[in-house]
Amino acid sequence: MADHEKDQVRQTKYDGIEEYDNQLPTWWKITFYITLVFGFFYWMFYYTFDQGRSQKELLEKAQASYQEKVERLAPKIDQVDFAALSQDAVILTQGHEVFESYCKSCHGDHAQGLIGPNLTDEYWIHGGEPREIVEIIEKGVIEKGMTPWKGVLSSTDIYHVVAYVLSLEGSEPSNAKAPQGEKYIRKP
Ligand code: HEC
Repeated sequence: MADHEKDQVRQTKYDGIEEYDNQLPTWWKITFYITLVFGFFYWMFYYTFDQGRSQKELLEKAQASYQEKVERLAPKIDQVDFAALSQDAVILTQGHEVFESYCKSCHGDHAQGLIGPNLTDEYWIHGGEPREIVEIIEKGVIEKGMTPWKGVLSSTDIYHVVAYVLSLEGSEPSNAKAPQGEKYIRKP
């Protein structure tokens, strides 16, 4: 405050307490007006015209486009050699992880069958060809309690878990559930 300005004191006085009634400093007022202008444009940008994106939305968008790219680059089903995949130790480890996380609760820890059918025998309700197995995993059988996995698992994860399931065929786990469906003879 410049020297020639004197502190203003309010007229009113309670219990002997006096209060200053000075002008707000200029820097304070300018800052205040700037926040008003900023707030106005902020409101317009994010709310009225819905142009602004929150970090959460940006993240979701980035994840969606990543997911889409992963799907686009995944091999198409006719190009996948399941017989080869089911011999590949790395693929089987990955397929096993998927199975542990998403399938074991219904199909049993050795795919011996629990709520869902035994996946280690030669009998298949929906067909034993790899293509058919992929299809049933993607689509699920909601009325029987089999979850559709498309959109939850990537195609690659599904191929890996199918390779894992195929590698268990004939493993004869204990407590195996009785065969269901038709016998399918796998071509060597
Ligand atoms: C919530 C329980 C549940 C979960 C979780 C589940 N399944 Fe199933 N699954 C079932 C049931 C029940 C069936 C039998 C459907 C029918 O009778 O048509 C089934 C059927 C199947 C079949 C067809 C079997 C056949 O004989 O044709 C395959 C393959 C299969 N599941 C794989 C998987 C895989 C792989 C996962 C994990 C990604 C999985 N399932 C997770 C309950 C489940």
